[in-house]
Amino acid sequence: MPRLIADRPVLRMTSELGRVMAAAEARQRAGQKVLHLERGEPDFDTPAHIVEALAAAARSGETHYPDARGTNTLRGALRDKLARENGMRCEPDDIVITNGGTHALFIAFQALLGPEDEILVLSPHWMAIPKLVALAHRATLRAVPAYLDVNGGTLDPAGLARRLAVAVGPRTRGIYLNTPNNPTGAVLARDHLAAIAALALERDLWVVSDEAYEHLLFDDARHVSIASLPGMAERTLTAFTFSKSYAMTGWRVGYLASPPALRDVVGPLLAFYTTHGVFPAAQAAALAAVTGPQDAVAVMRSAYQERRDLLLAGLAGSGVRVPPPRGAFYAFADVTAALGGRDVWGLIDEWLALGLAALPGTAFGADYGGWVRLSLAARREDIADAAAVLRNRYAAVRA
Ligand SMILES: Cc1ncc(COP(=O)(O)O)c(C=O)c1O
Repeated sequence: MPRLIADRPVLRMTSELGRVMAAAEARQRAGQKVLHLERGEPDFDTPAHIVEALAAAARSGETHYPDARGTNTLRGALRDKLARENGMRCEPDDIVITNGGTHALFIAFQALLGPEDEILVLSPHWMAIPKLVALAHRATLRAVPAYLDVNGGTLDPAGLARRLAVAVGPRTRGIYLNTPNNPTGAVLARDHLAAIAALALERDLWVVSDEAYEHLLFDDARHVSIASLPGMAERTLTAFTFSKSYAMTGWRVGYLASPPALRDVVGPLLAFYTTHGVFPAAQAAALAAVTGPQDAVAVMRSAYQERRDLLLAGLAGSGVRVPPPRGAFYAFADVTAALGGRDVWGLIDEWLALGLAALPGTAFGADYGGWVRLSLAARREDIADAAAVLRNRYAAVRA
């Protein structure tokens, strides 16, 4: 019998989300009610005009092999959007349409990382990042704690630059950042991005900027794309997705904007080595999303903000401390006081027994065993119920 699975460590990396979802489903099958705050999946439907655009395009025959890099119309519309909203100047040839933001990041890491190359990853970070980096042959990542301190106001731009400068080594090729951040909801303001940009220029590094949640901002937070800062367009690959802004997770449409120097690499990575492009009718739908009315985006954004406020108010005084997220749709909760000597999985299992599914902080980096991520992409009532479950549980601890 030949060896079943290739001898590659990346294929043995576990999925914390998979483990929690399986445990939650098992409880549901046994008749228990479970509040699902573990997934980053908008509970809204895709806006109707986007669905209609897909149907019309499919009916009119947009069902054949796509141009692997994406349709000219969509890439042209995205060029305009990037100039208008993100302050980024690029040509349609510098934009490729990908199968979601994940695929855009996969291509970015494949294009940049070779054997023994290292990428600095601002942390806590989205759980797919270590896997996507590990898929680049013998590349490694080094986590650099950032978002909790930035969000808490204890890490100024100079401090962040110093922290990154210390981490840069002879093998460092670049820096991966994600703003607004999954899982903390931290938003990197222009000053912090300028400090990262200055370091990238000084040490000749690439930047991979993951802007999946660019439209989901709370209060007065503003989104800034690091590629718009002086000197950065030539050294930044920016990954975007339609998944979160337009509740289009199932459609698998995203895009990658990269410097002209990478044109000859990014195109083939799409065409020959991965998916050969995205369903043309889904691209027509993405065109409707980006050129059509944006009211649905605003409605969803304010719903997430309202749920954040509901969760924060519900947890006030409970001993589960949540630094207020300023964007995305997650709350990263400090549960140190509730661990009571257990590791975070012990706590996750206890919360599951109470009917609440959430993700352990260790899914987002080894340093976060005192944290749990709660998703705000859940029904309002479920968020209120989840806060009540935790309040009741920890009121007893405090008494
Ligand atoms: C930080 C971050 N980047 C990228 C993605 C990719 O999303 P998708 O592949 O659904 O477009 C996600 C999804 O959860 C995310 O949280």
